[in-house]
Amino acid sequence: MELVHEKTGQNVWVSTITYRPLGNSGLMVSTIGLGCNNFGRPNTQTATQDGTSAVINTAIDAGINLFDTADVYGGSVKGLSETLMGVALKDRRDEVVIATKFGGDMAGANGPDWDARASRRYIRRAVESSLTRLRTDWIDLYQLHRPDGITPMEETLAALGELIDEGKIRYIGHSNLSGWQIADAEYRAKEAGLPKFISAQNEYSLLARGIEAEVLPAINEYGLGLLPFFPLFNGLFTGKYTRGGGPADGRLTSRPEELDSVPWDAMEKFQSFCDERGVTMLDATIAWFLAQPGVSSIIAGATKPEQVLQNAAAGTAWQPTADDLAQISELFPA
Ligand SMILES: NC(=O)c1ccc[n+]([C@@H]2O[C@H](COP(=O)([O-])OP(=O)(O)OC[C@H]3O[C@@H](n4cnc5c(N)ncnc54)[C@H](OP(=O)(O)O)[C@@H]3O)[C@@H](O)[C@H]2O)c1
Repeated sequence: MELVHEKTGQNVWVSTITYRPLGNSGLMVSTIGLGCNNFGRPNTQTATQDGTSAVINTAIDAGINLFDTADVYGGSVKGLSETLMGVALKDRRDEVVIATKFGGDMAGANGPDWDARASRRYIRRAVESSLTRLRTDWIDLYQLHRPDGITPMEETLAALGELIDEGKIRYIGHSNLSGWQIADAEYRAKEAGLPKFISAQNEYSLLARGIEAEVLPAINEYGLGLLPFFPLFNGLFTGKYTRGGGPADGRLTSRPEELDSVPWDAMEKFQSFCDERGVTMLDATIAWFLAQPGVSSIIAGATKPEQVLQNAAAGTAWQPTADDLAQISELFPA
């Protein structure tokens, strides 16, 4: 919320953001986080250091503390997102929770990996590369980007446990695991006395509700914190697209085939629902997310500082009733 400072007369941003523990842990994260896969992305303001720093500084000033990236993010230059973040966060490291990931294909940047990117051998190399790019001594949340189908989970957990003991990482999470894989990881950690994952990152939005069948029940059973990815469905749920298209610089405008496949009847009903309640589609979407059990932080991406401010404000803009939530869910059946 922007207010006028009573002494200086300048506009100041007053944070209304809220914080939640990430799953069953003491790691407090802002309910609106920042997805960082735009940093280094060509044809966006965040392609550059200045553009990235502006988005990051705006986010921190608005009270956002969770920054989610991955070693592979950065447009066509793998690692560039972490590199840009390292520069931007150099003097603000203590104010933020850095979440990054390993296990995506770095195209040889971490040496040959023979696709076993959850192995101890690979993890030791990957973490050093991320720490160097991020210009930090520690990563707050180190996430397995996806299982490699080769490495036993015990080996991955043991290697991550060594990094925790060495102070290089603080907490561990996973991403793109199925329901049974989440349960299996829990079982193996318990059996072998290894560290447990505290978070899960899976695709989840009003148009992608597949995780509600198996993944979400597992997440809630084991007390994991959910970090839904693509929460705005690439910006669709900001309300800036219509059947006729969207702004020239919007991500989906350059992907007409994806816009064509949007269920526009449901989107238009959702817009009317929001208009009747005097809220934006962004506010209603974020409110729906924050009411879902297990959700810790909505890691929406942003290419401009003003988007960050809108997303941060949406975290507390509207308190839906149970009936409102049910109506939204009915518009977009799982
Ligand atoms: N674990 C995984 O496998 C995985 C996979 C994908 C993503 N992720 C994570 O999830 C995060 C979020 O995903 P995402 O950023 O790709 O998708 P998203 O959050 O669904 O959409 C973000 C995009 O919507 C637009 N936008 C955001 N706020 C807006 C606002 N207030 N007004 C207008 N437009 C707005 C921006 O794009 P434009 O300005 O270009 O329109 C922004 O880049 C990623 O950054 C990443 O951290 C994880």
